[in-house]
Amino acid sequence: MSLRQFVERAKQAGHLIEIQRQVSPYLELARVAAALDGKPALFHRVTGSELPVLAGAGSAREYYALGLGVGVGQLMGKLADALAHPVAPQVIESGPCQQVVEPDVDLGRLPILTHLPTDRAPYITAGVAVICDPDYGYNVSFHRLMVTGPRTVAARLVEGRGTDTAWRKCGNGLPVAICIGNSLPVLLAASMSPPKGVNELGIANAMSPTPLVQCKTVDLQVPAETEIVLEGHITHTLTDEGPFLDLTETMDYIRQQPVVVIDCITRRQDAIYQALLPGRLEHKLLMGMPKEPTIFASVSEVCECRDVLITPGGTSWLHAVVSIVKRSPEDGRRAIEAAFRGHGSLKHVVVVDDDINIHDPAEVEWAIATRFQADRDLAVLSDQPGSSLDPSATHAPGLKTRTAKMGLDATVPWGANREDYEKVRYEPVDTSQYLAGAG
Ligand SMILES: Cc1cc2nc3c(=O)[nH]c(=O)nc-3n(C[C@H](O)[C@H](O)[C@H](O)COP(=O)(O)O)c2cc1C
Repeated sequence: MSLRQFVERAKQAGHLIEIQRQVSPYLELARVAAALDGKPALFHRVTGSELPVLAGAGSAREYYALGLGVGVGQLMGKLADALAHPVAPQVIESGPCQQVVEPDVDLGRLPILTHLPTDRAPYITAGVAVICDPDYGYNVSFHRLMVTGPRTVAARLVEGRGTDTAWRKCGNGLPVAICIGNSLPVLLAASMSPPKGVNELGIANAMSPTPLVQCKTVDLQVPAETEIVLEGHITHTLTDEGPFLDLTETMDYIRQQPVVVIDCITRRQDAIYQALLPGRLEHKLLMGMPKEPTIFASVSEVCECRDVLITPGGTSWLHAVVSIVKRSPEDGRRAIEAAFRGHGSLKHVVVVDDDINIHDPAEVEWAIATRFQADRDLAVLSDQPGSSLDPSATHAPGLKTRTAKMGLDATVPWGANREDYEKVRYEPVDTSQYLAGAG
């Protein structure tokens, strides 16, 4: 299902908010979208551009379920299945993303948002970069792009990830196609880190048919249903990038990052520009959700895993809750270690029994309160590789971030009388029979 088909479905389901009033892309649109966080919002009239702006398409789990045609409970299985079994997409002759071809590039015609007064410049935040590594082939991932001129942007390339390693191999610049206005499966696939050599477009295609078309000026193929494609190359000219609000809702650092020159824009006739609010629900879900199946797979190697949740309070990146069926005294501790292997940036993890609803933070806290003893059930790991996004970690230029990690085994102690650890519930009653006026 393309992004615009999703918009139509969201409208029919009553989720879509449509804004007809004229809105400025400078601070105002981001503020309105932030106030509406959790709902897809379509801004029809944006100052200085002919294109409408869609924000919040992926700001709740139910929208991904809608976009993938499954129930919310089946999302993790669907992602795990696509990650394990990518399907090569069909390549077609022509697609809607090339209805208009603009070799006279002017990024000023796009409604690119300035989110906060501290932004150095307007930023593209929902851009999915398609590149081809000389050794491993296609890599597809998000890169925020700060506008530096009418046909140039600065790309934030996280060190050691797919785009960064390919760019370092290509001394004359790395061809790139930046897709804006993507289907939810493409957004999810771009957020994943499959083993090198696995094309994320095959993962997207396994979730929902994603045919590709050949780009006009670079030897790359992109999803035919994309709204806007920026074709160009990532140069080796560096410039200051940032400061910019990141996932943790704190400011990221200013870094020297490569300039991307855009040679051609292709788009749909009536293209929708997609915006993604940094630090808000869509950013959080896209980062965290694809890590749930990888943690699940890792924990399943050491014990019976029932469910995994990356929690929004932990920035949807640093914290997870794992539910297991405990069958041996060591299962809780093994699950902690496996969860850290399943998601390298995970900092804190709580392991609970499968009678705890991991989607209810109060139940998880109850399990910690009643089943956990710190001097017996706490695992602390010092000086571990950690997330570059955590301001409390130790950061040094050019070196991997270091952090402490903590795992809480909040499962019922092995050998204990299980009944002593279970919630005693009152028998349910029909209260209407006891309320005033009832016969
Ligand atoms: C909304 C969003 C924004 C992101 N922004 C960036 C970014 O600016 N730079 C970057 O290198 N990774 C960014 N990422 C992370 C990559 O897309 C993600 O880690 C991807 O899995 C990397 O894949 P790779 O290891 O195959 O390259 C972002 C992810 C999301 C979901």
